[in-house]
Amino acid sequence: MRVLVVGNGGREHALAWKLAQSDLVSELLIAPGNAGTATAGENVPINAEDVDGLLALALEREVDLTVVGPEVPMVAGIADRFAEAGLKIFAPTAAAARIEGSKSWAKELMRRCNVRTAEARSFDSSEDALSYALSRPEGSFVIKADGLAAGKGVLLPDTRQEATDAIVSMIDGNAFGNAGGRLLIEDRMTGPEVSVFAFVQGEHVSAEVAACDYKRVGDDDEGPNTGGMGAYTPPEFWTPELAAQVRREVLEPVARGMVADGSPYNGVLYAGLMLTEDGPSVIEFNCRFGDPECEVLMPLLESDLAEICLAVAEGRLLETEVRWGEGAHVCVVMTSGGYPGRHRTGLPVSGLAATGTENGADALIFHAGTRVGEDGQILTAGGRVLVAVGSGEDIAQARAEAYSAVGSISFDGEHHRSDIAERALPAAAATGGSSSAAIAGRLGTRE
Ligand code: AMP
Ligand code: GLY
Repeated sequence: MRVLVVGNGGREHALAWKLAQSDLVSELLIAPGNAGTATAGENVPINAEDVDGLLALALEREVDLTVVGPEVPMVAGIADRFAEAGLKIFAPTAAAARIEGSKSWAKELMRRCNVRTAEARSFDSSEDALSYALSRPEGSFVIKADGLAAGKGVLLPDTRQEATDAIVSMIDGNAFGNAGGRLLIEDRMTGPEVSVFAFVQGEHVSAEVAACDYKRVGDDDEGPNTGGMGAYTPPEFWTPELAAQVRREVLEPVARGMVADGSPYNGVLYAGLMLTEDGPSVIEFNCRFGDPECEVLMPLLESDLAEICLAVAEGRLLETEVRWGEGAHVCVVMTSGGYPGRHRTGLPVSGLAATGTENGADALIFHAGTRVGEDGQILTAGGRVLVAVGSGEDIAQARAEAYSAVGSISFDGEHHRSDIAERALPAAAATGGSSSAAIAGRLGTRE
């Protein structure tokens, strides 16, 4: 079948790489793609947000299945438009994508489904938000833009002044574009974070899988938030008991609740969780794979991704195998100097073996912000440039492989974190606060 992947980041390169391995896939298109996806299929220069253009492309090229990476076209209704045109698509409808597109809608859903999450109130006026915030102890809450904000819509003010500045800039200053018109003030939680993913089709929830990502730009979580600087799987604290609890208390109730609401979910569901003393609590849901979590999950997926996506689109996930492997995977994101702020692009990348995904060190290299220059040279084209993925029997091996690949690739101003997955190394896990035993001890079961 002819498959179209929508998006242009490391996540979409990982999806294209995995789809290209399927016997079901005879031709792969990526819109718009990057220099890496061009090695897995044919790039077509249509933006991920141009739903009309994508629909025209899918009709003209007789695409059998479309797999959507990013959330923006989902929230804009790409699945509804494709379905109306009789096209198969792996993406939730606009109504279901509200689980990511509106934090206040997602909160209501969790309340209805009795899913643990921090208490929150939503505000449309800065006056009301300010008087509520100032009535609370300093540092006891977080402030979130209601709508999509590319991962940058959450502020954690520690003082009254910071809270005031945050509210004024979000509502009155429109700091996050349309996203900030409404905001949520939510109780601040503490605990280790984990991203959990499952394929969902109506009430059916596939085998789940977990990964940890790193959002801050610098080592030890210093500096501003980014789209993601690295990830690893499995988390050192992830046990079958915890997985079963997340499935029972979060994934299944939400899938059932969305069916009951008349907006059934079809796609991959991403639960961002904090492991609090009361149990796993939802920070947010996303309606897509995480980036860079996807880059460590695709090598881990043993089943055929094209078969799974087709099964979700055709309503037969229950009969389809979703098997995750046993190995460990670590990815390190190589960014342009200055990211997430101003940064240069168009710089030549050296050390990549041709334009392939494999390099000498056996790591997988997924491209994020890259393009092919006129002479065939790979050039930087964004903030997140490349994602090196190491694999192994354990985190130590996978981590060594990822960093060895990072060491062999360079471009002017290149930056990466040097502590990705460090806390998951056996020595750190044995002494640190996030050992399995320490976390198991924190988790209550829900009454
Ligand atoms: P989000 O964009 O919702 O994933 O939030 C970004 C980050 O903000 C999360 O990864 C958490 O580290 C932090 N965060 C969000 N909500 C809360 C909360 N209620 N309590 C503590 N930290 C939070
Ligand atoms: N890795 C976080 C995200 O994709 O939102």
